[in-house]
Amino acid sequence: MMREPYRIEARGLPERVTVYEVGPRDGLQNEAVTVPVEVKAEFVARLAAAGHRVIETTSFVHPKWVPQLADAAELLERVERVPGVRYPVLVPNERGLDRALEHGVEEIAIFASATETFANRNLNRTLESQFEMFEPVVARALGNGLRVRAYVSMCFGDPWEGPTPVAQVVSVGRRLLELGCYELSLGDTVGVGTPGHVAALIEALTGDLGGPERLAVHFHDTYGQALANTLTALREGVTVVDASTGGIGGCPYAESATGNLATEDLVWMLHGLGVETGLDLPSLVETSTWLAERLGRPSPSRVVQALGTAPDVKE
Ligand code: HMG
Ligand code: MG
Repeated sequence: MMREPYRIEARGLPERVTVYEVGPRDGLQNEAVTVPVEVKAEFVARLAAAGHRVIETTSFVHPKWVPQLADAAELLERVERVPGVRYPVLVPNERGLDRALEHGVEEIAIFASATETFANRNLNRTLESQFEMFEPVVARALGNGLRVRAYVSMCFGDPWEGPTPVAQVVSVGRRLLELGCYELSLGDTVGVGTPGHVAALIEALTGDLGGPERLAVHFHDTYGQALANTLTALREGVTVVDASTGGIGGCPYAESATGNLATEDLVWMLHGLGVETGLDLPSLVETSTWLAERLGRPSPSRVVQALGTAPDVKE
């Protein structure tokens, strides 16, 4: 059984990539079943043990909007924080921030939309009024010493409006960074981006911001483009990549959103390229298999499937 990829370095790539794990949040928010809180806590602990240094743990959104994560407070009580590991949570508004502060959160992520329709569907706001919601959240979070990440969803296209103009994403992204967010994660919520589009967007943002240092990418794999898009982003200088254990995930308010880029598939590619991640691939695969058993369905990750079933291959 081939358990690790052959390592052959390629030029023009970063030496090290930070994998920003979103499985407990993006992954579990879209599951038909609500996972028991003790299983979630064990999931987060396993991710930290596998080497993850940033684990997006849950959301303080309206519990009626995302009932799968209604146990956010209880989960945070149960998670044993490992020194050196960050446990960000999603926060849309001041009510969410109040709840996060009550539970000792040190890092939050706000999530904006690049399109009008999705701002309305996901946040009950217009494209413009979402900023009025985020401004006091970021100001108060920074005042309390928290780090704030910002997502932009629907960066490449959305199911209602078609392709998203690059200039529109640049404008939304710049405004979020100007609020004081440390990083901008470019969300392909419905997985419609292809590598040329990814390069065009990152080049436009890099030109506007003066470099790729504050950019991260967040690809859903609906059309099988997530790895190709990630490699493109790495070649453009991005070094933070969002991924989800076993490729689970999706947004309940985005039609046709399916799973995220699978962490194991990403790590297989990165280690094959000689890019360091600090992650232990066998532990990740074991955790995915464990989680798939709890979710009652096989992991969508190709690497998890291959390591589970592949015939012997010479290492
Ligand atoms: P709203 O209905 O406009 O809220 O929802 P509101 O401000 O009018 O408040 C209505 C009531 O809700 C009030 O209670 C608030 O206190 C309460 P009342 O006074 O009537 O008793 N409330 C809350 N309660 C608990 N926690 C809160 C909260 N906020 C208000 N945080 C809202 C606006 C933003 C809250 C709603 O639209 C919402 O929760 N949306 C979240 C949707 C979501 O979580 N989507 C998935 C995550 S985004 C994603 O997956 C994309 C991403 O992965 C990137 C990518 O893939 O592109 C990040
Ligand atoms: Mg997502």
